[in-house]
Amino acid sequence: MSPIDVHLEALTGSGPTGRAGLQGCAPPELPPGRRTFYIETFGCQMNVHDSEKVAGVLAGRGYQQVESPGAAAVVFYNTCSIREKAAQKVFSRLGDLKPHLHEGQNEEKIIGVLGCVAQQEGEEIFERAPWVSLVCGSASYRNLPELLAELEAGNRRVTGLATDTDETFETEMTRRDNPYRAYLTIIEGCDKACSYCVVPFTRGPERSRASGSVLEEVHRLAGAGYSEIQLLGQTVNSYRDPAARMSFAGLLAAVAEAPGIRRVRFTTSHPRDFGRDIVEAIESIPALCDHVHLPVQSGSTRILRAMQRTYTREEYLEKIALINSARRAISVTSDIIVGFPGETEEDFEQTLSLLDAAQFDGVFAFVYSPRPNTTALGMDQQVPEPEKARRLAVVLQRQREIQMARNLALVGDRFEVLVDGVSRRPGQWAGRTSSNRILNFASSGPGLLGQYVQVRVTGASPNSLVGEHVV
Ligand code: SAH
Ligand code: SF4
Ligand code: F3S
Repeated sequence: MSPIDVHLEALTGSGPTGRAGLQGCAPPELPPGRRTFYIETFGCQMNVHDSEKVAGVLAGRGYQQVESPGAAAVVFYNTCSIREKAAQKVFSRLGDLKPHLHEGQNEEKIIGVLGCVAQQEGEEIFERAPWVSLVCGSASYRNLPELLAELEAGNRRVTGLATDTDETFETEMTRRDNPYRAYLTIIEGCDKACSYCVVPFTRGPERSRASGSVLEEVHRLAGAGYSEIQLLGQTVNSYRDPAARMSFAGLLAAVAEAPGIRRVRFTTSHPRDFGRDIVEAIESIPALCDHVHLPVQSGSTRILRAMQRTYTREEYLEKIALINSARRAISVTSDIIVGFPGETEEDFEQTLSLLDAAQFDGVFAFVYSPRPNTTALGMDQQVPEPEKARRLAVVLQRQREIQMARNLALVGDRFEVLVDGVSRRPGQWAGRTSSNRILNFASSGPGLLGQYVQVRVTGASPNSLVGEHVV
């Protein structure tokens, strides 16, 4: 079986342990040759999961997934606009599909642009690439079946660009790519207004999914064989149950207590809404993973204010102290932006000293990229590109040293890992700890994929651990 049909999982159907069917969904009759689709995803986990849902919608209409755009009747790009480079990628992909460049290419191909660039550029995309026939942002995915029906009926151009919605994107069927970890979006959009960020413009307002509906899906996923759930949202901990039944921490507990669920992750948390109740839930419920992704962005209160992050350096470090006071060690990872407009050498030094103080287990660091519609775009004192690049290298080096020391301190410890990779070298496996560290280990045991095993750490590098299976 190829990986793309193994995990086709109707919510009423089978999951990672078996080949799925499309129960309850008779595919409509379509002409031969128009039943294949290709989807490529850029950007964050929310986009990855949206693509899984879009693939489910297409599968429900009788389309089959293929692995190259050339072989597909429908080609979708699910795009990211967070930094300029990410946004440019889609236009180079679209250039590759320009019809007259490829003689004999089926000009009937349906080409669609989804996601954050679609929302941001809107109908401009048709101007730049007239061979595109669908442009749809994530806040309009509920309408995808209708938009597809219009295209199948011969319509040349369709759009879904509204953001004034209170709907979330739920489908009858989701085709999940990862056989062990199931993503589940509990809150869409973002109501924060960080001055550098496009997400509030590209994903619409914050809207949470009702806790009852979330838990129903968790039970179905557990029944289908998934043991790890990752709850998603741009500000996942700003979750507010529309049914007013559960707090975010309450929902975490309820998901973790579902029979069959062994691990629950959640990302991304916003520091402002990160409270003691979340730490207490992690402390007391073993299935809640001991990892929090808590982006700080900068160590300088002055820059945090300009970024409109709504917390100071000190308040952020108080959250870290709260997490460190837990009875169970909780790993923290973060995001950093260097070279925000007006960032002086002194501000930058404060970011470096915050790295020392916070002792993160992982950091995604980026150079500031000016983005359309954002308030930071018009700010004075833009930092020159070479200086941004220098600061990025310094942050990465400092953080590498911190992670090396932290990982070395784990040598000799024992962790449970979920095995999710196998090396070409025989007897070598890869897994993840609850704290989301990668642990590569040796074992003569057969068929460990998807199992939870105990591993003792024997060595460390900045980004991963090595160890041996403890039987
Ligand atoms: N919602 C999450 C993060 C969303 S985007 C949060 O609030 O933390 C992921 C990361 O991309 C951000 O944390 C930030 O570090 C980075 N990012 C966002 N906009 C950016 C920009 N204009 N330039 C550079 N990095 C950016
Ligand atoms: Fe962007 Fe800020 Fe919302 Fe995160 S919280 S998605 S950085 S606006
Ligand atoms: Fe990118 Fe949109 Fe996610 S801009 S990071 S795909 S929310």
